[in-house]
Amino acid sequence: MIVHKGQIIHTLRINDYKEIKTLWDAEAGIIQRDWETKERYAILIRRNFETSVSIRDNNQIIAAALAGTDGWRGYLYHLVVRDTHRRQGYAELLIDYISERFKSQKVSRVHVLTAIENEVGRSFFSHLGFQQRTDVTLFSRDT
Ligand SMILES: CC(C)(COP(=O)(O)OP(=O)(O)OC[C@H]1O[C@@H](n2cnc3c(N)ncnc32)[C@H](O)[C@@H]1OP(=O)(O)O)[C@@H](O)C(=O)NCCC(=O)NCCS
Repeated sequence: MIVHKGQIIHTLRINDYKEIKTLWDAEAGIIQRDWETKERYAILIRRNFETSVSIRDNNQIIAAALAGTDGWRGYLYHLVVRDTHRRQGYAELLIDYISERFKSQKVSRVHVLTAIENEVGRSFFSHLGFQQRTDVTLFSRDT
């Protein structure tokens, strides 16, 4: 637990999984894959405890972000704010905090993966100064 710009930020815990998964499940814009299990979540948050964080109100998660680094780039995955708490600056605060943590880890760029059809995500990230890339294409293959 740490205070950032007057707001308490909590590190995500394994016990948060059920609650956070319910928030993700309610959002069509958040694409989840089969391999995103509780076990993978546990590994990600353990390795990236500084940047996988939440904001709570009355012990309920109202905003959360999964973000981590491989030491080379930073990646921001599922960012969600409870619909009752949107447009109050919580997502921007979390991104600001995560960016600061990445910077302190000498990670100078953060990528966000957003579904093309997620217009909310696209307009939100554009609004915050993230640039939609036209110079690279994402290639993926199963291991
Ligand atoms: C996208 C989302 C995280 C934004 O959360 P939020 O807490 O409402 O955002 P904030 O209040 O921090 O907004 C910060 C700034 O972005 C703007 N903003 C918020 N939502 C926006 C949107 N949908 N489109 C454009 N700008 C937006 C705000 O107006 C604010 O700008 P301002 O300070 O200039 O007024 C939230 O709508 C959400 O959880 N959506 C569903 C999940 C999702 O699509 N996540 C993103 C992809 S993983």
